[in-house]
Amino acid sequence: MSARFLVTAPIPSPGLDLLRCAGEVTVLQDQPDSAFLRHLCASGNFDVVLTHTRDVIDAPLLEQAQLRGVANNAVGFNNVDIAAATANNTMVANTPGVLTAATADIAMLLILGTARRVVEADTMVREGRFHGWEPGLMLGSDVSGRVLGLAGFGRIARATAHRALAFGMDVIFTPRPPVHREVSLTELGEFAGKVKQVRWNELVEHSDFLSLHVPLTDGTRHLVNASVLSRMKSEAVVINTARGPIVDEAALVQALKNGPIGGAGLDVYEHEPALAPGLAELPNTVLLPHIGSATVRVRGEMARLSALNALAMARGELPPHPVNPGAWD
Ligand code: DGY
Repeated sequence: MSARFLVTAPIPSPGLDLLRCAGEVTVLQDQPDSAFLRHLCASGNFDVVLTHTRDVIDAPLLEQAQLRGVANNAVGFNNVDIAAATANNTMVANTPGVLTAATADIAMLLILGTARRVVEADTMVREGRFHGWEPGLMLGSDVSGRVLGLAGFGRIARATAHRALAFGMDVIFTPRPPVHREVSLTELGEFAGKVKQVRWNELVEHSDFLSLHVPLTDGTRHLVNASVLSRMKSEAVVINTARGPIVDEAALVQALKNGPIGGAGLDVYEHEPALAPGLAELPNTVLLPHIGSATVRVRGEMARLSALNALAMARGELPPHPVNPGAWD
């Protein structure tokens, strides 16, 4: 019998073509609610489900599922309960690497966009409120000479560091906040002498831009909370291209409204796609719709990698990018 794939939203053709060559493909056109997704996964009609970050693959679904694997079309996999997947012999795979540069570009765009008030400026022009050059019009802040604090020092953080250094920023980082883990010179590699490791407290207190690059786990949920925000510089800006719940969004809105911080550039939200009350009204924010990886090439590559993961799992082989490689032991 040929392999049977469930794809929870249309994906670019490089991925779909690969799947279609290997078996039967069912693509959902509308986002499934959790009961429907659970029903489909438990039906026995599919070998592998290709999911997206918005699909919640939790323990109840995994306990009933009759699947060999879950190919998550993302590098992040916080939407999948990995322990429950492993306990139920379900392999999970993801798409690392291909979206690093695109996501770092968006982090840099948010740094520049918040510093130079790009949304306010664009809105002013479109609304016909631009009446010619003025010495005091839309003054923002410099990025060169300012401190970028990276929470995390993985692939995307490093790619963001590259960009920030090219813009003349001073880069400090904490590899695994809030805990301390010393990074060796070998691990620093090409960044030795160019960036400085600090503890989480220092990162919070010294950053002009605090950019988040950690996975969402129990240890990083609300990493940036009211207490952290209260210790940041008065003009500091929070940048989040990782996962929304790393920031307590209600506390962020308060900190943006009443001080102490100066702005926020967000691509992800705590209760995505909903925004915390008041966030959209704040002028000192740049708000994007989770587009870190959204280039034609990158989304095509992600779809291709997800399909390769799905094909391998359908054949009972270890996928190219397994998250829980021991799931079938
Ligand atoms: C990911 O891959 O984790 C992104 O958030 C989705 O593009």
